[in-house]
Amino acid sequence: MTFSNTPFGLFIVLALVFLTLTVVLKKWHFGLREEEAFGDDAPERNRLLQQLQERYQELDKLYVTSSDEFISPHVSINDSIDYINGEIGADNTVTINETDIGCEELAGMKAVDFLGSGYTKTVLKVALPQGLFVALKSVNHQGTDMRMCMDDFKDSQRCLEFVSFKLRKEIALLQRLQHPNIVQLKGQCQDSALVGGITAVLEQGTPLQMIQLLQSPWEERFRVCLGLVRLLQYLSQSPLGSVALLDFQPRQFVMVSGELKLTDLDDASIKETACREDSDCGLQFPLRNFTLRCSPSRICKGLNEMRNLYNAYRYFFTYLLPHQAPSQLKPLIHHIMNSTRDLKQSINETLIAFEEVLHMYQSGLHLENLPPSITRDYTVLKGMRSVGNMEYRCWPSYKQQGCLLSVHSAKEAALICSSNPQCTSFSLSNDRTWTGRLLASFRSGFSHLVPDINSAVYMRKVKALGAVP
Ligand SMILES: Nc1ncnc2c1ncn2[C@@H]1O[C@H](COP(=O)(O)OP(=O)(O)OP(=O)(O)O)[C@@H](O)[C@H]1O
Ligand SMILES: *[C@@H]1O[C@H](CO)[C@@H](O)[C@H](O)[C@H]1NC(C)=O
Ligand SMILES: *[C@@H]1O[C@H](CO)[C@@H](O)[C@H](O)[C@H]1NC(C)=O
Ligand SMILES: *[C@@H]1O[C@H](CO)[C@@H](O)[C@H](O)[C@H]1NC(C)=O
Ligand SMILES: *[C@@H]1O[C@H](CO)[C@@H](O)[C@H](O)[C@H]1NC(C)=O
Ligand SMILES: *[C@@H]1O[C@H](CO)[C@@H](O)[C@H](O)[C@H]1NC(C)=O
Repeated sequence: MTFSNTPFGLFIVLALVFLTLTVVLKKWHFGLREEEAFGDDAPERNRLLQQLQERYQELDKLYVTSSDEFISPHVSINDSIDYINGEIGADNTVTINETDIGCEELAGMKAVDFLGSGYTKTVLKVALPQGLFVALKSVNHQGTDMRMCMDDFKDSQRCLEFVSFKLRKEIALLQRLQHPNIVQLKGQCQDSALVGGITAVLEQGTPLQMIQLLQSPWEERFRVCLGLVRLLQYLSQSPLGSVALLDFQPRQFVMVSGELKLTDLDDASIKETACREDSDCGLQFPLRNFTLRCSPSRICKGLNEMRNLYNAYRYFFTYLLPHQAPSQLKPLIHHIMNSTRDLKQSINETLIAFEEVLHMYQSGLHLENLPPSITRDYTVLKGMRSVGNMEYRCWPSYKQQGCLLSVHSAKEAALICSSNPQCTSFSLSNDRTWTGRLLASFRSGFSHLVPDINSAVYMRKVKALGAVP
């Protein structure tokens, strides 16, 4: 491994020293404890062996649930616009990429940042020689899982093997479950000389920051919720069957270019709950309990799907969806909130409702009743850009300094400008948001105009005289 001179260099070196020391200590520990721990402690040892056995079996199941040939883990989605418009997703058009990253490629890696860690795993940002950044996931030797196993069994090698199963399971699931809202597996390495065991090479994202997301425009928050619903629809009928995310929390997701992606799959379950009567099909949450139907085939049908959907409601929709929604879309949004809160709709129906909101928002249908005369209050200067701007702030703006908002058309921008006494002009460029809406920049004045073929400036007639120098 080589290190760059980044501020993280020192951190990584320290982390490695720590890791190395831990390995050395554990080897010593292990050597010392070998006879001592299992001398006359056969029941403990058998319990660990049995648990290992169970995890082997669970892993095996993931590979034999379908007879299709080996799926290369590296896939690339043709075009994200198709996805945004809903053309990828259900039919899951993905192409296989043969250039998997393996142990060889990782040999030349440079760790540049620490991305996160949890009970089970540690994630580092790594620069590959080709200049590509990826996230490397490996077992967290200092994590709670490892510590608890050591407390119980005092066998570092077997505990490492035991905890590694969670990562193995995750890799197996990532190979079988491919979706734009699941982090992409770019390769893996099982060389034990590297990072001490199995390593997954993943598309790199940034940890989900709920606080930051709460402050972002509605359009971006809606994108996260829509991505989540598309993901849950896929999981409800994945190649492995209906998948439940047992540990469903924001920290199991990362953001990649504004899109939400699931990264933590070790707590995913593909088990269907067996039942004899409806009361066996209970779903319990802190504030709400539900009972589902026990189907004639003695399975709680839709239990995994509904568990995911209610978690999406309580961890994501309640915080992200209603707040600052465009007023004309509010009835639709409230309907979504009500039906997911009471689990009155399936994931399929929920997705249809979300796609309808997206369609209305993209096509400007929700703006049909705008007064047509509104742009008459503005002088349009096409092919011009303003310079020396006097910005005012608005919230929630795409830009911290200034007021940059997404609009459907010049008409909607004019409406926004006219409703704010500070606003004397706005401009539109070719910049668009993920839905294809325009980004409009509003201001209280500017010093002069310069030619720019990709821009148009709209000056408010009444205000213009007084405010522009
Ligand atoms: N591809 C990625 N890009 C950037 N950060 C990531 C990526 N994958 C995971 N992380 C970060 O690393 C953290 C730990 O990863 P992960 O959730 O898989 O580990 P874990 O041990 O199972 O965690 P937990 O205890 O929450 O279940 C995540 O919370 C996330 O912030
Ligand atoms: C997606 O596929 C189509 C047809 O196969 C192709 O024309 C298009 O260029 C591809 N888009 C990207 C971004 O690769
Ligand atoms: C495979 O992935 C690599 C790295 O992401 C990329 O450079 C390459 O173009 C991809 N190849 C195909 C066939 O998609
Ligand atoms: C849900 O069910 C549990 C167990 O039956 C019970 O203890 C709890 O009070 C119920 N919660 C609500 C909100 O009804
Ligand atoms: C949603 O539920 C609330 C409270 O239960 C109710 O007041 C509201 O009318 C419902 N809205 C819709 C759109 O169903
Ligand atoms: C949900 O939608 C998918 C794809 O659109 C379809 O295959 C599936 O049968 C639907 N499920 C139900 C329960 O209607």
